[in-house]
Amino acid sequence: MDEKVVLDIQQVQKKFGKFEALKNITFQVHQGEVFGFIGPNGAGKTTTIRTILGIIQADAGSVQLFGEDAWKDRVKVHQRLAYVPGDVYLWPNLTGGEIIDLFLKMNGDKHTDRTDLLIQKFDLDPKKKARTYSKGNRQKVALIAAFSQNADFYIFDEPTSGLDPLMEEVFQEEVLNLKNQGKSILLSSHILSEVERMCDRIGIIRKGEIIEQGTLDDLRHLTRTQFTVTTKTDASDIREIDGVHTVKLDQQNPKKIYFSADTDAIEEVMQFLTDKVIVGIQSTPPTLEDLFLRYYKQDAGE
Ligand SMILES: Nc1ncnc2c1ncn2[C@@H]1O[C@H](COP(=O)(O)OP(=O)(O)O)[C@@H](O)[C@H]1O
Ligand SMILES: [Mg+2]
Repeated sequence: MDEKVVLDIQQVQKKFGKFEALKNITFQVHQGEVFGFIGPNGAGKTTTIRTILGIIQADAGSVQLFGEDAWKDRVKVHQRLAYVPGDVYLWPNLTGGEIIDLFLKMNGDKHTDRTDLLIQKFDLDPKKKARTYSKGNRQKVALIAAFSQNADFYIFDEPTSGLDPLMEEVFQEEVLNLKNQGKSILLSSHILSEVERMCDRIGIIRKGEIIEQGTLDDLRHLTRTQFTVTTKTDASDIREIDGVHTVKLDQQNPKKIYFSADTDAIEEVMQFLTDKVIVGIQSTPPTLEDLFLRYYKQDAGE
């Protein structure tokens, strides 16, 4: 049986003057999944989200939410959406608490025990005026309001860019919480590793086009982890392992090596290194930037 489609974007295009911000955006978000919408700054994430929200109208293509047109039926559709923008604007003279309640009211929801719990979890002082808040605190206000809303589809545009790691974890917990309730979530980010833990599927956007999409497993072939390892005995033969790339020995210390490995090869790599007795190890997860450099070398220099 087909999974229920919550968001269906087909061949969306959007120009600003002569500039093609969106050239061809096609993807779907299914009910109960977390979809990671990943791409570098300026790729078109926010513009895409604005077409989903009916804030701007696409020049071509279609955007459907719950089977309805995101532009024509935007008033109706909005009642089922919760949205947190990347840059949160707040009324400077209202307190965080007042703004949370206002956001909830505008969406036909109410302040509940859950709202209080979220204020606690996100460690927000709701009594302070918004003008005293940092970017992170402004984001928290919008996140608390969104998470205490009872929506069907939650859209977060680079939600953790101003949050410290502890709060990022609270955010991730709350997203997974929504997912466990069968809600659907769109999460945009320019950092793959920040969202990959939560996402069922991801779409990668670059220069207004979706260039890859699928489950993380589908996209595993795109990812390579960087290693720096020091071993007791010589490990330079690691270059013989399939899926190990760019092996370099340290100039000063030949027992220290640098290499990258495909995700599929990591088990074998670890086995191999363990036999050589690991003294020190450091690994860096693949970044989106690495991925772009590898697959789109033709304009790596831009
Ligand atoms: N209202 C606008 N007028 C002109 N150009 C815009 C407008 N909004 C966005 N853009 C341009 O469209 C491109 C995509 O922007 P955006 O969707 O904000 O990217 P992202 O959210 O992925 O960082 C950028 O080059 C940006 O400068
Ligand atoms: Mg953006």
